[in-house]
Amino acid sequence: MTTSSTDLTAANRAFFDDLATKYDIKPWQKQLALQITNYIQQNLDFIGIPKYSDPITLLDYACGTGMISRALGPSVISIQALDLSSKMVSRFNELAATSEITFVRNARAIEGNLLTDEDPPSELNGPELHNFDIVAVGGGLHHFPNPAKAIGRFAQRLRVGGVLLISDFIEEEQGWVMPTGAEHTIYKYGFSESEMKGLMEGHGLGGFGWREMPERLEMEVHKDKPVSRKGFLAKPAKM
Ligand SMILES: C[S@@+](CC[C@H](N)C(=O)[O-])C[C@H]1O[C@@H](n2cnc3c(N)ncnc32)[C@H](O)[C@@H]1O
Repeated sequence: MTTSSTDLTAANRAFFDDLATKYDIKPWQKQLALQITNYIQQNLDFIGIPKYSDPITLLDYACGTGMISRALGPSVISIQALDLSSKMVSRFNELAATSEITFVRNARAIEGNLLTDEDPPSELNGPELHNFDIVAVGGGLHHFPNPAKAIGRFAQRLRVGGVLLISDFIEEEQGWVMPTGAEHTIYKYGFSESEMKGLMEGHGLGGFGWREMPERLEMEVHKDKPVSRKGFLAKPAKM
């Protein structure tokens, strides 16, 4: 576990800049994305996407190449995406431009970090980056230096009644410490239900919900030792 938030942020930026064009091309990567996408789409009622006629807006935080935007794209009308890695941002925009989903095609990602030790920079504080109906983070929370603070920062970006959706891995006894090159980008290897519930208390959030994916997610992150993890969805709403 890297302790300095500056080190962890720099490690993530460098690692994901390097990975951007290789992030979702191998069969296991595609399968992982498909399983999570399907699970999200099967759980729209659980997520509680607001059902009213106003446009539904999504902030896809730590967007990577856009899996969450594509999963929720058919249910929303406007997508803003943000990522620390400029190369991930480029890849997101490249893929979004050719998407079959209209509101993904209109989506744009920008480079940014809402999780700075100080307040987020002024260019990330405009009205266009507030009052979202959904803030969603896919596979990002375990990379962030301070998950509790991150949840608080995301809560500030929701409108009242909006939903924070976290998709990540369940922490298991068996560690995942092996030379994959990713270990220095990881704050912790997953979360339990009670931990997520605790993290999501306060910040003006309530109505915690938790769902565990039935199938394991296989990751060939190491050629001799593939790992598998269970995934979860967790959500509170802004009260
Ligand atoms: C495992 S990828 C997940 C990408 C995408 N959400 C998905 O589900 O495929 C983690 C992403 O988190 C981004 N990231 C890491 N730390 C971040 C931070 N502090 N702020 C914004 N993005 C961050 C990385 O650049 C990377 O794109």
